[in-house]
Amino acid sequence: MIFTVAIDGPAAAGKGTISRAVAARFGFAYLDTGLLYRAVGAKGGDPVEAARTLSEADLARDDLRTLEAGQAASRVATIPEVREALVDFQRRFARRDGGAVLDGRDIGTVICPEAEVKLYVTASAQVRAHRRWLEVGGDEAQVLAEVMERDKRDADRAVSPLKAAADAVVIDTSDMGISEAVATAIDIVRARIGG
Ligand code: DC
Repeated sequence: MIFTVAIDGPAAAGKGTISRAVAARFGFAYLDTGLLYRAVGAKGGDPVEAARTLSEADLARDDLRTLEAGQAASRVATIPEVREALVDFQRRFARRDGGAVLDGRDIGTVICPEAEVKLYVTASAQVRAHRRWLEVGGDEAQVLAEVMERDKRDADRAVSPLKAAADAVVIDTSDMGISEAVATAIDIVRARIGG
């Protein structure tokens, strides 16, 4: 079965948790596409070359989840040739047999406009910063500033900016617990599979 669930949205909105839960529930494969950009940013050197030669080992580094890696990812993600180099891998993953969930910023708009389900998961910047701060600690005001800086860069870039696809279902998790957000997403996918 070919079935793609595209989940886009800003940093720390709950995309990763929702994606993993949907993938586990339906037995689909899961790709965190942010990790590709994080790995390119962390590799150093020429980002375009890094994207063209990205390997499993690059994706397995354990320093890819830091705030710094997120900022570096957001910067290399503005380079059109970097994005271009990562398209085929993502599209093949999306259309693999057995179903796939991909989360990122441009999955429903650019990578997989034909996705069977498109979700746009969001929350206020304050709520997202607070969640991120609970994970990483430090100064909460600084975490909020970084979240807002990254949102702005991701949304303002010329190529594949962060935005909801016209046919995406928006899930605002600002006032939702994670189990409610997960249940909402699972209901939408189930309805589409059933229909
Ligand atoms: O989802 P994340 O926080 O791991 O993403 C890190 C950065 O990578 C994000 O700020 C922008 C970029 N990114 C992107 O441009 N397109 C994607 N599909 C995924 C991530």
